[in-house]
Amino acid sequence: MPDNVPRAIRPSVSEPLLHWYDAHARRLPWRAPPGSNATDPYRVWLSEIMLQQTQVASVIPYFEKFTTRWPTFEAFAAAADADVMAAWAGLGYYARARNLLACAREVAKLGALPDTEAGLRALPGIGAYTAAAVAAIAFGRRAVVVDANVERVVSRLFAIEAPLPASRPRIRALTDAITPDARAGDFAQAMMDLGSGICTARAPRCLACPIHDQCDGYRSGAPETYPRKAAKQPKPQRYGTMFWAERDDHVLLVRRPAKGLLGGMRALPTGPWEATPPGLQGAPLPADWQLTGETVTHGFTHFNLQVALAAATMGPHGISEGEWWPIADLASAGLPTVFAKAANRFGSMRCAS
Ligand code: ADE
Repeated sequence: MPDNVPRAIRPSVSEPLLHWYDAHARRLPWRAPPGSNATDPYRVWLSEIMLQQTQVASVIPYFEKFTTRWPTFEAFAAAADADVMAAWAGLGYYARARNLLACAREVAKLGALPDTEAGLRALPGIGAYTAAAVAAIAFGRRAVVVDANVERVVSRLFAIEAPLPASRPRIRALTDAITPDARAGDFAQAMMDLGSGICTARAPRCLACPIHDQCDGYRSGAPETYPRKAAKQPKPQRYGTMFWAERDDHVLLVRRPAKGLLGGMRALPTGPWEATPPGLQGAPLPADWQLTGETVTHGFTHFNLQVALAAATMGPHGISEGEWWPIADLASAGLPTVFAKAANRFGSMRCAS
């Protein structure tokens, strides 16, 4: 425990928080009721991977779909890669889906999911946060679980003046100091629920908070100003072109290279993504390509993308690597969001012409 946190702070935060959680925990499909040990490690693991960088509301339908289709580690480990990638489409951060499969196959070999943070960390796709969350939630181990919600709650509770990300080591030490030895999984999820429902980013509802009387942020009168943030670097802008090659009500789709952004996903053909618009560079086959004048934009984590849309109608003998996909059935292709946006735009242009 850090020197500047009195030992007494531990129970005085966790007790009222757990009490609140017992009454107010969100009912989520991967959760056992508060205090229960009836957790399924497969469901906890799957949910935690899906919840990395994705909101609970977006995850729920995917979680239901995955667990209905693949209810156990064994079933998931036996799934075809292409089926998992297509089922993941729209959830983003596609490396997670590839790691999910690699991890499930490793677990099938081991016979069970490891029940310690160190054992979990050794698996594909499991970093420090996920190892701690799964160890605590699925196996009841005391672990220090810090996600974005917890960062916000702890920054306010202790009115941490250093901005993120520099404050992370201190946030972690303070979270450690308030984490109880028992019910660490419920404690972690209580912190998450507090952060998502009460200690919200813009308008925290402090009077409904079970620990507001201990909160330095509340006492400051401006809890919403925590966590302090360092000035943001603007994201770089990149440009690309997507190619709509059409033949007999079918469109050409390709599979992206296994490694790299959106790796292994089905996609519209696209040339390089660069600092200046690449025009018709990277067209998938020779044709009378026309830039439509329409563009689609998409925000990735590390850059913003603007793509121009180019279209061509192919003769009966146009050949290329890829699949000719029925345009009326594009929704079933499992395109990642940026390609689905472009396909929708092409679809509207076809209807209008
Ligand atoms: N975000 C990440 N893990 C979560 C969980 N177990 N419950 C709610 N939100 C979460």
